Amino acid sequence: MSLKPIRIVLLGAPGSGKGTLTTRLLKNVSQLNSLSTGDILRREMQQNSEIGITAKNYIKNGQLLPDHLMAQLLNNELSKLGWLSNESSWLLDGFPRTIGQAEELDKNLDPFNCNVNSVVELDVPPEVILERIENRWVHIPSGRVYNLQYNPPKVPGKDDITGEPLSKRDDDKPEIFKLRLDSYFKELEPLKEYYYKKNILRTVSGETSDIVFPKLLDLVLQEFKK
Ligand code: AP5
Ligand code: MG
Repeated sequence: MSLKPIRIVLLGAPGSGKGTLTTRLLKNVSQLNSLSTGDILRREMQQNSEIGITAKNYIKNGQLLPDHLMAQLLNNELSKLGWLSNESSWLLDGFPRTIGQAEELDKNLDPFNCNVNSVVELDVPPEVILERIENRWVHIPSGRVYNLQYNPPKVPGKDDITGEPLSKRDDDKPEIFKLRLDSYFKELEPLKEYYYKKNILRTVSGETSDIVFPKLLDLVLQEFKK
């Protein structure tokens, strides 16, 4: 199916399934690309780069990095990937997370006439999220996410594609995870309001992937059909 340019922001609490649903969406919508700021930061941390070292201090405490740093990081990536164009299609997972970031993003996209044209909020009950995190394992270099119950790796403890070992994220420790959840809900309302006023905010609710994914896919196909 041929679709108009898709530029989605995925909003959702930690553990709501942003990474997992993005992977599934990319398999179904061939023109789509995605970028996760969390994945970028984890790669930078592994490489001990300057931004990686800075990020470690915030992430280990469950805190957000400063807006100006994140906006700059994201803009560099968008430009490097050649996504600053009116014809491009992409999905952002984990950015923006604050009003400040949303405004910076618009400022950076304006000159290229490629603003965000859809914002999807994933609404998943907190009690479901907490159980998922206990079962989450990740392949840091690629950002691929596994869940021991929902989508286990083919070989226990190994990434399906590379065979490399999976790890637990440091910020998934219960006390840190709780801080991340709190920070998400603190920033959420003003961010939703910002996109609601632009009339591009949609919400998809549900407890399981069988419920959430078809709704998300349907929304994208309906909204962007030519
Ligand atoms: P980031 O990596 O973006 O973390 P997050 O937003 O907290 O979200 P998660 O990656 O934890 O969850 P997810 O929604 O992707 O869920 P997943 O698919 O894995 O950011 C990490 C940190 O970096 C931040 O805390 C911050 O410090 C910093 N940072 C990043 N961006 C920033 C920004 N813009 N500004 C400032 N700081 C920033 O799913 C979770 C689990 O559930 C998995 O095990 C999965 O398999 C399972 N699962 C998923 N969907 C389903 C389903 N539908 N049914 C059953 N199980 C499911
Ligand atoms: Mg994620």
